[in-house]
Amino acid sequence: MNKQKIYILGIESSCDDTSAAILCNKKVLSNVVASQKIHELYGGVVPELASRAHQENIVPVIDQAIKQANITKEDIHAIAFTRGPGLMGSLLVGTSFAKSLALALDVPLIDVNHMQAHILAHFIEEDALDTPQFPFLAMTISGGHTQIVKVTNHFDMEVIGETIDDAVGEAFDKSAKIFGLPYPGGPLIDKYAQTGNPKAFSFPKPKVNELNFSFSGLKTAVLYFVQKMKKEDPNFIEKNLNDICASLQYTIINILIDKLKKASLQTGIKSIAIGGGVSANSGIRKALKEGEQKYGWKTFIPKFEYTTDNAAMIAIVGHLKYLKDDFTDMSVVAKARMKL
Ligand code: KG4
Ligand code: ZN
Repeated sequence: MNKQKIYILGIESSCDDTSAAILCNKKVLSNVVASQKIHELYGGVVPELASRAHQENIVPVIDQAIKQANITKEDIHAIAFTRGPGLMGSLLVGTSFAKSLALALDVPLIDVNHMQAHILAHFIEEDALDTPQFPFLAMTISGGHTQIVKVTNHFDMEVIGETIDDAVGEAFDKSAKIFGLPYPGGPLIDKYAQTGNPKAFSFPKPKVNELNFSFSGLKTAVLYFVQKMKKEDPNFIEKNLNDICASLQYTIINILIDKLKKASLQTGIKSIAIGGGVSANSGIRKALKEGEQKYGWKTFIPKFEYTTDNAAMIAIVGHLKYLKDDFTDMSVVAKARMKL
């Protein structure tokens, strides 16, 4: 049995979080994330500002990750970085930095697909958490993605359903903006929903084929609903915020759970893992737990810091690829659109 300690540096810069992590085998030694507050002013991620902030953050973030892990840069065996998908300007910062550092340290370079990393985050070793057995279904729900993936092994994944327009996180954030809440509004909707009545208002559920999703119609329905109600009472939102949030969250969760039920029936797979920022939502967590009772599911939810964009998930893919000698070379370039 190989007892070697493998240190991987992971670098993530696909959207608006600059992150670096050090893993020793499958355990996280450090996972530093610099979230870019600047986008709050604009109600969404501004790509040009994101790349500028990555430029400023990347050196201190990597430096801090190495220091927190209590290693030196000479201990690093390989560097894993997000190649895509994501915003081109953002990806370029991490990709270029990873290439330069790998060259300087003379260590192998490992390119990582961000979506694969959200799924493989479940294989980070945590004392109290089980890792899923193959095959399992992974639902990735965030501000940039909404997918259901059949995972046969670490590197054999098939997208069996995905959004045809907005991501589910966008449905939360854009609706929150309509309610006058700051960006990102998802966590606030979750907070207000706690004390609201989920049946107070009804929002339409989209009709989309098979296992695919659509959230742009819901956002429009929310806009029309708010416009109509505000005509009758200009203070409608302030008076009903908790009920509005609870009703919207209830609708979104139903949409997600219905598709998961369908995917589980179609594939016969009852192990379900979720990832992405929206998996922090208390309603979806509760609905998944209920699924264990109702449908015999076994559900897996990673620690919160490994569900949102982070470099530990990039480093775990790096570790798994390192074991297979699956390296890339200096000709590698960032890819904004990249399939699983
Ligand atoms: O994974 P993530 O940090 O970044 C990417 O989009 O890739 O996810 C961010 C998204 C945002 O849309 C945010 O509103 C949503 O996750 N989010 C939530 C909650 N926490 C984060 N949505 C609903 N309820 C939450 N508790
Ligand atoms: Zn992501």
